[in-house]
Amino acid sequence: MLVQFGDCRIELCQGDITEQEVDAIANAANDLLAGGGGVDGAIHRVAGPTLMNETRTLYPDGCPTGSAVATTGGRLKAKYVFHAVGPIWDGGQQGEAKLLESAYRTCLELCREHNCDSVAFPAISTGVYGYPMDLAAEIALNVARNFVVEYNSPKLIRFVLFSDGASGAFARVLESMTE
Ligand code: APR
Repeated sequence: MLVQFGDCRIELCQGDITEQEVDAIANAANDLLAGGGGVDGAIHRVAGPTLMNETRTLYPDGCPTGSAVATTGGRLKAKYVFHAVGPIWDGGQQGEAKLLESAYRTCLELCREHNCDSVAFPAISTGVYGYPMDLAAEIALNVARNFVVEYNSPKLIRFVLFSDGASGAFARVLESMTE
């Protein structure tokens, strides 16, 4: 499914983010940038040791929750990886929505900084961090739509979803944006 906003499109697909041929992919990292399982583990495995070397050298203090930092893509097809730190879900009253929003938004700002026309995102915070998928989908897609409407870039934002549940949740929200 895809929806066009001006010159930009927001696209949904089901699959593995490590295989995406885009300028940048976002990672769902932790604030220590210490690596982990889930999508973080998969990205580091495919990209190779360059990623961890760069995060250790460039960001020895890690990255605060709600923000993101850039490295190159190592052996990935993508030129850059934006390591985004989403919030751990704690009931919804601890500022989780704002933090998730700013994690996505920082990645989109990094796209502008690094001249990336295309970026792929996983559903940040919806795995180990426990963010409810439908709420996360609403935040992710709203940030993406608002950003492309404001800046007319990047030209492509793709959400790469790993399960039927994630695909369904994102599709429902994106459909509602076209009504
Ligand atoms: N491609 C796309 N999406 C994936 C992939 C993949 N290869 N592997 C997992 N996912 C999906 C999960 O199904 C989930 O919907 O990514 C989403 C985010 O899940 P997690 O990877 O668990 O990330 P998150 O919930 O943000 O937790 C971050 O987990 O791995 C650790 O180091 C990471 O501590 C950090 C925490």
